[in-house]
Amino acid sequence: MHIKDLFNLKGKVIVVTGGSGLYGKCLVEGMAEAGGTVITTSRNLQSAEKTAALFQSRGLDVQPMELDQADPGSVKQFAADLKEKYKRLDVFVNNAVSRPMKGYNGPLEQFAESMRVNATGMVDLLRTMIESIIASGGGSVISISSMMGMKGPDLSNYEGTDMGDLPPDYFFHNAGLINLSRYLAKIHAGKNIRFNCISPGGLFNHQPQAFLDNYCKKVPLGRMANNDDIKGLAVLLASDAGAYINGENILMDGGLNA
Ligand SMILES: NC(=O)c1ccc[n+]([C@@H]2O[C@H](COP(=O)([O-])OP(=O)(O)OC[C@H]3O[C@@H](n4cnc5c(N)ncnc54)[C@H](O)[C@@H]3O)[C@@H](O)[C@H]2O)c1
Repeated sequence: MHIKDLFNLKGKVIVVTGGSGLYGKCLVEGMAEAGGTVITTSRNLQSAEKTAALFQSRGLDVQPMELDQADPGSVKQFAADLKEKYKRLDVFVNNAVSRPMKGYNGPLEQFAESMRVNATGMVDLLRTMIESIIASGGGSVISISSMMGMKGPDLSNYEGTDMGDLPPDYFFHNAGLINLSRYLAKIHAGKNIRFNCISPGGLFNHQPQAFLDNYCKKVPLGRMANNDDIKGLAVLLASDAGAYINGENILMDGGLNA
């Protein structure tokens, strides 16, 4: 197959959760620019509609749908609506995250709330989307974890800021997601479905200057991730160009953890 065809997502139906978030918007953009029909989801339909409109105005095929992954009723309804409207699912980008826990000593209720969305709800949604992909003949599941799911924190990055009280839930569920993805690759062997993780480093989002200085001087490329950085990798894993990549976790951190 020609290399341009290998990376082409034309004809593919792709769901991106948390598509209105920071990395979510980049993922929606990349998948749509590669030719896919991208369904961007939010808990709040207006938020998804706003994101979709942004990309539709550039001629990209981005469609909004409502989904709360922590609500089993919402997950079930979403899968039914998706089937009715689009008939198939080729790619699921598991990107949504909730961050209710504020710091190491945050109440356990915050930890439980995080697990409700980032663990229990996510597994419910993953199983549902996997069923849809398998019923469509196969495809790709891309989970967005974090370098913080692979390493302990480097607290020196937060010197001179008030950002250093990191919550335990984020490290716990992101690490779990990486191995969950490998598990799924083995469990669904023989069904033409691939499971991979991307573990990004920090995305530039106007963080305090002290943090940017601390962080960027450790990155061999000298900067945080920008809005384009995740797009190519995500399209690779979604497309036929990545057809033999399965059960993998790819660190995308500019060399920070090299
Ligand atoms: N931003 C970064 O610097 C960074 C770095 C490394 C990894 N990541 C990873 O990237 C992914 C996205 O993170 P982000 O920073 O873009 O987050 P974000 O907070 O900007 O976006 C997350 C989205 O998930 C949605 N969401 C929350 N609860 C939900 C629920 N119950 N159901 C459906 N959607 C829900 C939110 O509304 C939001 O739109 C996460 O997996 C995160 O671990 C982010």
